[in-house]
Amino acid sequence: MSAGPSELLRVVTCGSVDDGKSTLLGRLLGDAGLLRDEEHRRLASGSPEASPDYAGLLDGLIAEHAQGITIDAAYRSFDLGGRRYLVADAPGHAQYTRNMITAATHADAALVLCDVCAGLTAQTRRHLALLAVLGVRHVALLVNKMDQVGYASGAFHAIAQTFTELANQIGLGRADVLPVSALHGENLVTRGPALAWFEGPSVAEYLAALPPAAAIAAPLRLPVQWAWRLEDGSRALGGRLSGAVLQPGQVVRVLPGNAEARISRILSPEGDLDAAQPGRSVLVTLDRAVDAARGSVLASVDHPPPVTDQFQATVIWLGERPLYAGRRYALKLATNRVGATVTDIRHQLDPADLSPKAARQLERHEIGVCNLALDRPLPVDRFEDSRDTGTFILADPFDHDTVAAGMVRHSLRRAANLSWQPADVDPAARAALKGQKPFVLWFTGLSGAGKSTLANLVEQRLHALGQHTFLMDGDNLRHGLNRDLGFTPADRVENIRRGAEVARLMTDAGLIVLTAFISPYRDEREMARGLFPEGRFLEVFVDAPLAIAEARDPKGLYARARRGELVNFTGIDAPYERPERPDIHIDSEATEPAEAADVILEVLRHRQLL
Ligand code: ADX
Repeated sequence: MSAGPSELLRVVTCGSVDDGKSTLLGRLLGDAGLLRDEEHRRLASGSPEASPDYAGLLDGLIAEHAQGITIDAAYRSFDLGGRRYLVADAPGHAQYTRNMITAATHADAALVLCDVCAGLTAQTRRHLALLAVLGVRHVALLVNKMDQVGYASGAFHAIAQTFTELANQIGLGRADVLPVSALHGENLVTRGPALAWFEGPSVAEYLAALPPAAAIAAPLRLPVQWAWRLEDGSRALGGRLSGAVLQPGQVVRVLPGNAEARISRILSPEGDLDAAQPGRSVLVTLDRAVDAARGSVLASVDHPPPVTDQFQATVIWLGERPLYAGRRYALKLATNRVGATVTDIRHQLDPADLSPKAARQLERHEIGVCNLALDRPLPVDRFEDSRDTGTFILADPFDHDTVAAGMVRHSLRRAANLSWQPADVDPAARAALKGQKPFVLWFTGLSGAGKSTLANLVEQRLHALGQHTFLMDGDNLRHGLNRDLGFTPADRVENIRRGAEVARLMTDAGLIVLTAFISPYRDEREMARGLFPEGRFLEVFVDAPLAIAEARDPKGLYARARRGELVNFTGIDAPYERPERPDIHIDSEATEPAEAADVILEVLRHRQLL
């Protein structure tokens, strides 16, 4: 990539103060006479000249969400041998901060510092594993404080061997290892007699020998960020180019529609371009009218990304609350934003060596391999093919916090092989034959609050009115469909997902469905609501204080939970998140069930559902 007069290479440094990182950076820059002291205490977007609008995917998106968060990755830049280096200093104390992920995702190379006396510590291994996951192509381990072991080659070679084995195991691209003494400036720029036995390069020589970032061939991608109609009626599409050079006359594929078109003009603030380099923000016009809008991708004809709604990805979990399969998030990939569900946590990756291990959930800073399903198909690249259209973030749909960074491994075949089977007898026809409006009454509340009793009573009333109904009770479903599920958070999420999906099938069949699940999490209740048309999902909060529910204790379960015989019991040692705005709020302490049933029927009539 060319960035003004000199070529730009992005380098991330990892390690802690104890490893001598600040000494190293100071010495390296000072010794080489390079210190310009240009610190950008902000999320730099790569090329310092780039406008912030066109910041790289993760940079931009994370920056958007990083407001209010202290940015602790400092950026320094220096010139060396006709090349400019932008050095992002990832803090050593935190394991994986968003800043480190941001810095590393766009880094061309990483310098990882370790102390020769300490060897490869757990933290160093975690940093290396993360660099591998983020696909940093060149990683050098700098074995520092060689002066403290009298520059002995033995200690260095032992670490070098462990490092090489680890690098192979975790799949680091190109891995080098260099002995240095930051304190004495040894092997930073030049090498004195003490390290004469080392045949490799100094740090400066290593950096100078790194191939230019632009030398990495990747398929052409232009994710469309803006679409305009020009005065002559043609379309102009703007976005940041990646992968390869784009020229007028070139034929591109426009996804997801899959049309082909020829690039007519490439516009820039400096006028028409006869070639645009990757990394550059451009505006292009096409020679014919094609379907294209924000979110479309212009791609090379011979290597377009698959358009898919299901893929497998490596996910770095950053959310404060753990990830459970079945939860919904907002997924941002290139210029697209779409609802997404993590359908399956395949396994977790060990933070030290990336070996897979079984997991039902991912805690903050854990890395896992997950399957995701999107609400609509998007052009999605494998991470190894494109960093722009192969990385994504997940955000909490409610508070918009970034909860994960993801790298796409591959799209799932299923996506292409499964489609909705259209049926001639549709939900409306089935409902019409029954002469009713299908909807869901979703009862939620503590165990013993009276959900089942009330749902039962309401079903009797509806039945007596000639309505076709079905009551789904959590306890009953757990005897069959959900008998493989317990009461861990992950199992409850899945319990509700299945319950909600079955309820949806039943409303498609034309039925009025009543469900009685504790459904303790707001996220899942909102997920369930999202499955139904507006107005056809009514949340009924059966509200009883814990003391009352516990005093009733119809199944003797509270007593057992108090004795410690039952763990994860809602209200005792597992949470219940009260509905904030239920459609119907029943105070089960003050209201008799018959009276409550009247209230519910009244609401149904008022909403013209009966
Ligand atoms: S939910 O939390 O996943 O929605 P669900 O409604 O299906 O729960 O099942 C709750 C019922 O399971 C309770 O009414 C109670 O009879 C029984 N149960 C057994 N163990 C627990 C537990 N640890 N927490 C809550 N309910 C439990």
